[in-house]
Amino acid sequence: MSDPWQECMDYCIEVTKRAGKMICEALQKDIAVMHKSSAVDLVTETDQKVEQLIISSIREKYPTHSFIGEESVAAGAPSALSDSPTWIIDPIDGTTNFVHRFPFVSVSIGFTVKKEIEFGIVYSCIEDKMYTARKGKGAFCNGAPIKVSGQEDISKSLVLTEMGFKKDVEQFQTMMANIRNILSIPVHGIRSPGSAAVNMCLVACGSADAYYHMGIHCWDMAGGAAVVREAGGVIMDISGGPFDLMSRRLIVASSRMIAERIAKEITEFHVGRDDTD
Ligand code: IPD
Repeated sequence: MSDPWQECMDYCIEVTKRAGKMICEALQKDIAVMHKSSAVDLVTETDQKVEQLIISSIREKYPTHSFIGEESVAAGAPSALSDSPTWIIDPIDGTTNFVHRFPFVSVSIGFTVKKEIEFGIVYSCIEDKMYTARKGKGAFCNGAPIKVSGQEDISKSLVLTEMGFKKDVEQFQTMMANIRNILSIPVHGIRSPGSAAVNMCLVACGSADAYYHMGIHCWDMAGGAAVVREAGGVIMDISGGPFDLMSRRLIVASSRMIAERIAKEITEFHVGRDDTD
């Protein structure tokens, strides 16, 4: 039986390459920085232009499909996930990196049907690494198969997380305490590359063994979730329960053992949901 979504995936790769080229060209010019919810929530004209390019290109070919895009949501569009084929788009995942020309900047697109992720594409455009994953067909980087490290011993693991300034003092203290708890296990180290999608791909290709985060969004997670799952990784909620794309929280790991240990060490804080807040 033919795969109904393969054509969408092939087209997505083509559009993502164009988006990556646009980002790399913008890096050669001056970057004007604007702010969204706070002084550390950055956005640029390139984020907006790249999202427009992606959505208009896809909408032209698939006019009945739905979209959830980071910048469209920032401009007031809804972010509820329905059963219809839906493209979940982060035009620049790692905007702060982009602004500083720190080299982990990605275009991330996940495609869902009946709320299930069918494929994911993450293009780390400065590194020129195109990660692709189709449900049930494996994960690839620039066409070569990738898989997680398979590490089960957390004391031998490299763990990724992201730390942003939190206005809520209690949340900030919990975030820092979580980092201290993980480091004290001890693990080999903690890293913060600055792009959630790239973080998931680093776990997918075995360069890191786990990644956890509270407070990200479905557009940061959708593309990378497909890649890490297809690379044999485990993906779960921060509580240790099933992963929920709209929950704004996740743990990904090379093995269930490591994911569950991280869930045990982490104290949760309230981050709301993408579909209700
Ligand atoms: C951000 C990145 C970053 C994470 C932030 C996200 P954006 O995405 O994924 O790693 O720490 O929470 O918002 O805003 O650059 O698309």
